[in-house]
Amino acid sequence: FLETTLRPKALAEYIGQEKAKGNLRVFIDAARKRGEALDHVLLYGPPGLGKTTLANIIACEMGVSIKSTSGPVIERPGDLAAILTNLEPHDVLFIDEIHRLSHVVEEILYPAMEDFQLDIIIGQGPSARTIKLDLPKFTLVGATTRAGLLSSPLRDRFGVISRLEFYTQEELATIVTRSARILDIPIVPEGSLELARRCRGTPRIANRLLRRVRDFAQVKGDGVISMPVVDDALALLEVDQMGFDHMDRTILLTIIDKFGGGPVGLDTLSAAVCEESGTIEDVIEPFLIQQGFLNRTPRGRVATQAAFLHFGRPAPTSSQGSM
Ligand code: ADE
Repeated sequence: FLETTLRPKALAEYIGQEKAKGNLRVFIDAARKRGEALDHVLLYGPPGLGKTTLANIIACEMGVSIKSTSGPVIERPGDLAAILTNLEPHDVLFIDEIHRLSHVVEEILYPAMEDFQLDIIIGQGPSARTIKLDLPKFTLVGATTRAGLLSSPLRDRFGVISRLEFYTQEELATIVTRSARILDIPIVPEGSLELARRCRGTPRIANRLLRRVRDFAQVKGDGVISMPVVDDALALLEVDQMGFDHMDRTILLTIIDKFGGGPVGLDTLSAAVCEESGTIEDVIEPFLIQQGFLNRTPRGRVATQAAFLHFGRPAPTSSQGSM
């Protein structure tokens, strides 16, 4: 419930993602003016950047209800049919992790998105029949970590495709200050900036760190989030000066110390650090790449000079493959 209270409810309250926000503002206002459902929207980008929040805001701004589910939860076509036939006109159907829909479920989704029709097969063998059901016009909002994970027929059926980016430090500081006000915890401005600097560009992490730092401030300090409180708390939480967490460091140090800086293949790296390759690719690497600490090359992952310097390792020569 705390999480939902920190989520902004209106587009005007939503900080950052100016491109996505600006476009959505126009498409929402236009659909409303025409009295139509909003076109289907695909949101993609690393976790924690506000895809679910935006889906809820879209429903709120359109003045409709939202039904939320996720790809792996919809196991059979009948599960999706049940959801679709329960929608009211113009409602938002939010499918998180939409790249994890099964093939058969995806097939049901195509005519539903395109023609607002449900084709279902009843029975088996010679007595099997298809029946077509008309669905209310609805808006599908899909979320995925990478648009490339979607099949192209599914991707092509979205009228709006929006990529969410990592947030700037200014945006994150504003978010932290806003969250602290909602949580009713005093924080010095430098404290907000420091959390903004060390949250991997991600509001979800900023808000999580804020709650943990608040715990330290209330139990070990005087209830105010001051700079020393932030520094001590982040040290205990093993968040370093770059905002890297334990797994970020494990991955970079494994590439540097065990594989001479790389290149090392994703599967080898995955086995070496005991983390799923999908998680490495979608959750961990995007921030390391954006910060210039890691490169993806055709021959594998490579730690950059900045990574060597950050961990106090002597800078590699170019023959070691680091770039
Ligand atoms: N809380 C989490 N993400 C946010 C955002 N983008 N704007 C405002 N508050 C947020």
